Amino acid sequence: MSEEQHPILNQLEQIQQDALAVLETAVDEAGITAWRSAHLGRTSSVMTVFSQMGQFPKELRPLVGQRANQVKLALEAALAEQAERVRQAELAQKLAAETLDVTLPGRPQTLGRLHPITQTLREIYRVMGEMGFQVYRARDVETDDYNFTLLNIPPHHPARDMWDTYYMTTPGMVLRTHTSPGQIRAMREYAPDPIRVILPGMCYRYEQVSARSEIQFNQVELLAVGKGITFGDLKGTLTDFARRMFGQNVRTRLRPSYFPFTEPSAEMDVECFVCGGKGCQVCKSSGWLEILGCGMVHPKVLENGGYDPREFTGFAAGMGPERITMLRHRIDDIRYFWSDDVRFLEQF
Ligand code: PHE
Repeated sequence: MSEEQHPILNQLEQIQQDALAVLETAVDEAGITAWRSAHLGRTSSVMTVFSQMGQFPKELRPLVGQRANQVKLALEAALAEQAERVRQAELAQKLAAETLDVTLPGRPQTLGRLHPITQTLREIYRVMGEMGFQVYRARDVETDDYNFTLLNIPPHHPARDMWDTYYMTTPGMVLRTHTSPGQIRAMREYAPDPIRVILPGMCYRYEQVSARSEIQFNQVELLAVGKGITFGDLKGTLTDFARRMFGQNVRTRLRPSYFPFTEPSAEMDVECFVCGGKGCQVCKSSGWLEILGCGMVHPKVLENGGYDPREFTGFAAGMGPERITMLRHRIDDIRYFWSDDVRFLEQF
C-alpha cells in the first residue's frame, strides 16, 4: 500500500479542515473552551490518532505521527489566533459599553474647615507662644471665691455687677464669667516661680443674647508674674502682640480703665482695620477698636496667689477672640458663631 493511499492521511486532512471550519463559530470564551476540548482534547480525533498509532503499518507510523503532529500544531495555532480575536472583540465591546467621558468635571469634595474662632485662637497661641507664653487651662465651673473674692471682688461689692453670673445649684459654685480666676489657679500652682502663661477658655454670662453679646464666649487671659515686671513690660508685650497679630504697622493705644484685680488698669485699642483710623461705622467714627482689658496685677491678687507683693509684680490682660474675629472679618452679629449655618462657616 503506497503512503498516499492510506486513508488515515486523508482523514487527518479532513480532521484539520472540519475543525478549522467549526472554529469560526467559536465567538466567545465559552465557545473557545468547548472547541479546545472537542478538537484538541484527549478524546478528540487528532489525539486519538496518536493513542492508536499501533493500528497503522509500522513503516507508515513516522509519517502518520508527523502529519498528526502538524495537524495538532495547526489547530493549536488557529485556536490561539481565534482566542485572541475573541478577546479583542470582547474588550472592544466592553470599552464601548463602559465609555468614560474624561472631559467631565470632577465631583467637588467638600472640605471641612476650622471654625473662625478656632483660627483666631490658634493665631493667638502662636503669637503668644513666640513670646514665650505657655497655654494653661483652668476650669469652666469655678467657685465664687476664685471667680470673684480672690480677685479682689468681695461679696456684695458693686463691681460684681460688671459680670452677670450663672450660679450653679451647688452653693458657692458658678460658671466662670471671665478667665481671670485662672490667674489665681496658675499662681497657686507656680508660686514662687515666675509665670508666663495664657489662659484660654469659654466664659459664661447671664445676659440678653444680642448681636453684640452671647451668653457663652471665649476669652484669652495673659498673665506674667516675676520680679521687676513693670507697666512698660505690659505695654511692650501687648503692643508687640498687636503688631504680630494685626500687622507690623498697626497703631495701638492704652486708655485708663478700671478692674478690681488690676491696678492701674487700662484698655487697649488698635487702629481700626476697616478705615485705617479715619473713622467709619465699625469703629463708630473714633478710628479705634477696643480689643482687651489689662493692668498690673493687684497686690491683693498676688498675695492671694501666694506671691509676696513687695517682691513680685505682674501684669494681666484679657481679650475676646469673638470680638477680634468680628472686627477682622467685619462680622456684624456674634450669634453667627454658634449658628450651624455652613454658608457662614464656609467663608473662612
Ligand atoms: N477679666 C476681665 C473681663 O472679663 C478682663 C481683664 C483681664 C482685665 C485681665 C484686666 C486683666 O472683663
